[in-house]
Amino acid sequence: MTTQPTAEDSHRRLVEQYTEMARLAGGLAHEIKNPLSTIRLNMQLLAEDLEDIQSPAGHRSLKRIGVMQRECQRLQDLLDDFLQFAKVRHLEPIPTDLNREINDILDFILPQARDANVEIVRYLDPELPSVMLDREAFRGALLNLILNAMQAMSGGGELVVRTLEVGGSVALYLIDTGCGMDERTASRMFDAFFSTKPGGSGLGLPTTAKIIESHGGRITVQSEIGRGTQFTVELPVPARLDQQGKEPA
Ligand SMILES: Nc1ncnc2c1ncn2[C@@H]1O[C@H](COP(=O)(O)OP(=O)(O)OP(=O)(O)O)[C@@H](O)[C@H]1O
Ligand SMILES: [Mg+2]
Repeated sequence: MTTQPTAEDSHRRLVEQYTEMARLAGGLAHEIKNPLSTIRLNMQLLAEDLEDIQSPAGHRSLKRIGVMQRECQRLQDLLDDFLQFAKVRHLEPIPTDLNREINDILDFILPQARDANVEIVRYLDPELPSVMLDREAFRGALLNLILNAMQAMSGGGELVVRTLEVGGSVALYLIDTGCGMDERTASRMFDAFFSTKPGGSGLGLPTTAKIIESHGGRITVQSEIGRGTQFTVELPVPARLDQQGKEPA
C-alpha cells in the first residue's frame, strides 16, 4: 500500500528545501563579502599613494579608483541586503504593544522626515490589543515601509500612520501622498531585486513581506499614480491573550 504525502509533509519538505537554498545563498554572499572588503582596502591604499602623484595620469587614475570604490560599496550594500532577505529567521515573538513600536520608530525617523518636508500624522488606537511580535524583525519591516514612503515623497508630503482593531486582527495603515505606482510596479514590487530606484536593491519589500507573513500576518497595497500609496499590514490577535497581552490566569 502506498501512502500519499500529506499537505503537511509537502509543506515541511518545501520549508526544508528553502532553508537549504537560503543557507547556500547566504554562504555564497558571505564568501563574496570577504574578498570584496580586501579589494576595498587595497583600493583605499592605492588612492592614498596616488594622491601624492601630481600628474594628469595620476589624477585620472584617482578618479577611476573612486568609481571602483563606489561600485564596491554598492556590491557590499547589495550583499548586506541580500543576507538580510535570505536569513532564515528564528522568530521569538512576544506579546507586544504595536503602538509603542510604531511610536519608537517614528520618533527615530522624525529628524529625517523634517529634513525631507514630510509630515508624520499618527492615529494610533489606544484600545489596540497586544500582538505577538519579534520586535527586531518587525522594526526592520516597518522601517522598510516608512523609508519607501519617504522616498516616494521626494518633494515632501504627508505620511499617515493609523492603527485599528478590525475583527480578530490588528491593522496598521501607512498612507503616503507620494508618487504612487504604475501597474507594472504594483505587480512586481514584491519580487526580489525589482526596483525603480537607481541603486535600489529591490529587497526591501520582499524582506518586509516575508517578516510579516512569518508572523501569520499579511500585507496588501493600494496605490494611485500621482496621488499616493496605502500599505495595510494585518496581524492576528492571539485569542489566548487578554488586553494587557498576558496569558489569562
Ligand atoms: N510607498 C511607495 N510609493 C511608491 N512606490 C513604492 C512605494 N513602496 C515601494 N514602491 C515601489 O516598489 C519598488 C520596490 O520596493 P523595495 O523596497 O523592495 O525596493 P527599493 O526601495 O527600490 O530598494 P531598497 O529597499 O533596497 O532601497 C520600489 O522601487 C518602488 O518602485
Ligand atoms: Mg525600499
